[in-house]
Amino acid sequence: MTIAPAARAAGRVRVPGDKSISHRYALLGAIADGESVISGYSPGADCAATLECLRGLGVTIRRTAPATVVVSGRGLGGLRPAPSPIDAVNSGTTMRLLSGIAAAHPFRTVLTGDASLQRRPMRRIIEPLTRMGARITAENGRPPLTIDGGGLHGIAHEPEVPSAQVKSGVLLAGLHATGRTRVVERVATRDHTEHALEAFGATVVRDGTSIEIEGGQRLHARTLTVPGDISGAAFWAALAGGTAHSDIHIDGVGLNLSRIAVLEVFRRAGVQVHWSKDEENAGEPVGTLRFTFGQPESFTVDASEAPLVIDEIPALAALAAMMPEGRTFTVRGAAELRVKESDRISALAEGFRALGSGVEEYDDGFTLEARPLTGGAVDAAGDHRLAMAFAIAATRASGPTTIAGASSVDVSYPGFFDELARLTR
Ligand code: S3P
Repeated sequence: MTIAPAARAAGRVRVPGDKSISHRYALLGAIADGESVISGYSPGADCAATLECLRGLGVTIRRTAPATVVVSGRGLGGLRPAPSPIDAVNSGTTMRLLSGIAAAHPFRTVLTGDASLQRRPMRRIIEPLTRMGARITAENGRPPLTIDGGGLHGIAHEPEVPSAQVKSGVLLAGLHATGRTRVVERVATRDHTEHALEAFGATVVRDGTSIEIEGGQRLHARTLTVPGDISGAAFWAALAGGTAHSDIHIDGVGLNLSRIAVLEVFRRAGVQVHWSKDEENAGEPVGTLRFTFGQPESFTVDASEAPLVIDEIPALAALAAMMPEGRTFTVRGAAELRVKESDRISALAEGFRALGSGVEEYDDGFTLEARPLTGGAVDAAGDHRLAMAFAIAATRASGPTTIAGASSVDVSYPGFFDELARLTR
């Protein structure tokens, strides 16, 4: 993909359905009683992988419109053994959440993924599920996972690394276990699983940083709409924030409190951010976002904030790279970036340096210093969020930029490059 420099950024856009929420509605639909209809389902490859995995476990899923899926639930504990390994492809969320469900079923499930997913750490989910009674083997704590499930009992779990995926995997296992399962978080992570469980009729007890679920609750099918993905919207915030006279409007975006920390960071960086909540669906607030150009300022994300904006760091880096020379963006306490779809610290540093920015790498973050962007050749390292971040920054370069591995945007945002072309025309 080649990106040409652009002078403007304006227009209205709709972002794809939220990836996190799409996974959860499909998974809960699969273990609920009855037929769930999910509209606004993410068109990305990650969420398609979740559907394929569920089909492998005996769930009937139909697509009745491009973004509408109908999931015929098999009821609590009703999944069937898969004849072959289940492939989560590039999706860590699929693997970690589905592990919790597979661990509850009394048969063997093998969960695997692509080369990127096979490098990602799974001990964080293997350990609590094993304590609940599942037998799981993996080499060096990495996929493929062989799960012999069934006979789970509730536990209390305090994840070492803040992770919504681990919290969710444990809660989903807990739904099938005897007794109560409790997850205590040091840093509150996105709470879509809690909202989704409630939407499907389960009782979830939340008390401060603790989330508790009683096993054996049956879920009831629902008709649901997935809101737009704020992590996708963040790239348009970066584009608007980095382009003079810009104005970008986005309707129908999910504004869950556990996801909007990034709006505050954009504000600190000088982007004009306007948002309004329009409605609430199944506990998920939905509204409108508008981003316009402001006064670019150096900004930082520290260890206490990093887990809340971890998916948006590439977009924030793109904004920083587009700023006037000498402005900086520092992120610390974000070592998790090294075990995302790529090593997002080194791949991001390498890519932005190739575009012209100055980047200093740390174990747990980096400092990016804005310098005139020249464009050039960059490699997204197969990582959708890096491909989008490089493309946004490339619009401000003096020359064209070629992005290798750009098709990875399909993981969360098919059509991203068409939207970018439209907004910068
Ligand atoms: C996600 C949780 C986050 C996030 C990922 C999606 C989820 O990961 O980075 O893209 O849907 O639960 P962690 O659970 O590792 O924090």
